[in-house]
Amino acid sequence: MTQSNNQIAPGRCFLEKVRDRLTDEERQLLLVIDPAKLPQHVAIIMDGNGRWAKQRGYLDRIRGHEAGIDSVRTVVRACGELGLRALTLYAFSVENWKRPQREIDALMNLLKRFLREEINELNENNVRLVASGRLHDLGEDVLAELHQTMQATASNSGLVLNLALSYGGRAEIVDAVRKLVADVLESKIRLDDISEHLLSRYLYHPELGDPDLLIRTSGEMRVSNFLLWQIAYTEFYVTSVLWPDFRRADLYRAILDYQRRERRFGGVTEA
Ligand code: FPP
Repeated sequence: MTQSNNQIAPGRCFLEKVRDRLTDEERQLLLVIDPAKLPQHVAIIMDGNGRWAKQRGYLDRIRGHEAGIDSVRTVVRACGELGLRALTLYAFSVENWKRPQREIDALMNLLKRFLREEINELNENNVRLVASGRLHDLGEDVLAELHQTMQATASNSGLVLNLALSYGGRAEIVDAVRKLVADVLESKIRLDDISEHLLSRYLYHPELGDPDLLIRTSGEMRVSNFLLWQIAYTEFYVTSVLWPDFRRADLYRAILDYQRRERRFGGVTEA
């Protein structure tokens, strides 16, 4: 995988660039990350916002979502600095529409604010925003902000930040199959052409590839309908840290853990 010229190359020279901003602990962790074995695509199930708010005695779960924005900002920046190719964040699932309307409204408002306020930060860090999910389910106001931020960052060549919004793994497969069947009916492809590779081309953002590492915060051992097709051989990392507490050191720990894994993709290790 070659790094684009605009990306900060991972490794010691990257460390030089961020050193002053890091705590001692972050610096120590970063020093032992192997720049040659970085995951290219990281996906995160950002869980535990409600519990974080409760733990702090807040009566409103929304305080947890608000605090979660700082973690989003930190992780996006850290992934960009490491030179990762893509970061997919599970921001709102198809199932999340079942939450109380007040919480949905608060999440949508937070999302709008994030999209509006983050344009400069994303551009400064060469991050391109894309989104995955049943985006037509989102309100027009959210869609307008989303399109504006995607457009404003479209020419960035560093990290791709993929926000999963109104996203469901099964819904993504159903949507892919619908588009594929439409192409069969229009004779653009033949039944015999259908393969895993071809089906994957119909997913929301096939160009991002499968995640190498899936992180879930708050200790839950569930996939929660996230990237079902893409995680066939993804390495899982679950941390008990709640999402609003998740910081650089936690990301670095997840990456170090990933680097200790042996990925065989169903094969065997050569003697
Ligand atoms: C799960 O925590 C989190 C969500 C459903 C939403 C995640 C949203 C954010 C981090 C903020 C907005 C994001 C962006 C990208 C602007 P939970 O509420 O299920 O927590 P709990 O399991 O402790 O109740």
